[in-house]
Amino acid sequence: MPSFKTTRFDKTTLALATGLVAAIGMTSAQAGEVEVLHWWTSGGEARAANVLKELMEAEGHDWQDFAVAGGGGETAMTVLKSRAMSGNPPSAAQIKGPEIQEWGELGLLGDLDTVAEAEDWNGLLPETVAEIMRHDGQYVAVPVNVHRVNWLWANPEVLDAAGVAMPTTLDELFEVAEAIREAGYVPLAHGGQAWQDATVFESVLLASGGSEFYRRALVDLDPEALGSPTMIEALTTFKRLRELMDDDMPGRDWNIATSMVIGGDAAMQLMGDWAKGEFTAAGLTAGEDYLCAAAPGTGDAFTFNIDSLAMFRVTEEAEREAQQALARLVLEPTFQEAFNLAKGSIPARPDLDMSDFDSCARQSLADFQHTAEAGGLVPSMAHGMAVRADVQGAIFDVVTNYFNSRDMAAEEAARRMVTAAQAAI
Ligand code: BGC
Repeated sequence: MPSFKTTRFDKTTLALATGLVAAIGMTSAQAGEVEVLHWWTSGGEARAANVLKELMEAEGHDWQDFAVAGGGGETAMTVLKSRAMSGNPPSAAQIKGPEIQEWGELGLLGDLDTVAEAEDWNGLLPETVAEIMRHDGQYVAVPVNVHRVNWLWANPEVLDAAGVAMPTTLDELFEVAEAIREAGYVPLAHGGQAWQDATVFESVLLASGGSEFYRRALVDLDPEALGSPTMIEALTTFKRLRELMDDDMPGRDWNIATSMVIGGDAAMQLMGDWAKGEFTAAGLTAGEDYLCAAAPGTGDAFTFNIDSLAMFRVTEEAEREAQQALARLVLEPTFQEAFNLAKGSIPARPDLDMSDFDSCARQSLADFQHTAEAGGLVPSMAHGMAVRADVQGAIFDVVTNYFNSRDMAAEEAARRMVTAAQAAI
């Protein structure tokens, strides 16, 4: 079996070759510059972003990298707002979920309908994905992938040393954690940042209440669900997870937490599958050097997080051409495969050959497809897919203040959750 490194090299070479052929064949298209704002700065993320840069350059376009570090993208969005307010947005930006609509309403996004029609995006993309990319019926963004958020990652050597197996329920998680602690390891690697707290919280909520409850609470913002006993139970369990984490977690970046699992200091991490990009970048193989499983108690439920690039209106024809090329390349098989192999996600288009993908990606795709058929897919609140940014910010505050407070009761946190959702509506 080829290693990941060989596979990636072959794919990148293929990508470049394909791009060069396209570039030679390009007679009418103008080469332009595209400035792309994103927050893909960790080892795995940067490898993935580089695939797009190389493909654009192979078609003769200039890539201006506008990377703003900070997991979850909060800092990147702040920077984007200030650039847009000063009348100088980048030509493309990593914008997701309902925020695409917010930018669309401001009238700042350019449309991608020409390329969408030429490439038959309507036929290609699942409607759940396509509808997020349209504003007022027009495509304004292009999806790069589908990330699953409710994952647990583990180092099998550490589990073995503690004599435990991968936990499948929350009760099992607490049980194995005790054995792991006794064996001298940190049970759960975590970074104390609001978005990481929220990432863990939403998986616990999904486990405690199931997809339907998750939807009522974190998508519909139903006050009854937000203040319910199920919410209080989820908050209580979430807070107990603190005991499985180490004292140095405040401020720690998510990829540093992943490296604790890779290096064998910690046993597990609850994180979306961009964490797999870090294992892959370290040359590790899924199912052998590291394990993945649905976050304990969540089974085949699926919190999705779709990364997408939205295009801002531009005036120059060359810049517009570059944007159209970017949008086209993103959905082509070459990019979808090479990018998603490096990023840890699954392709945004479901028609690709998955034989080069690992067991975690194949499980993700299978769970995505049958959960979608059963109507049970839920958008990730922590990753900007469920509610608008102001509501998300208000929920983050409650979650993180409660997680870090010495004396706030779960009942009080649930009450604040109701107020946060109401205030933001
Ligand atoms: C993004 C991922 C990214 C992760 C960590 C998520 O919100 O969707 O692409 O890897 O944040 O920065």
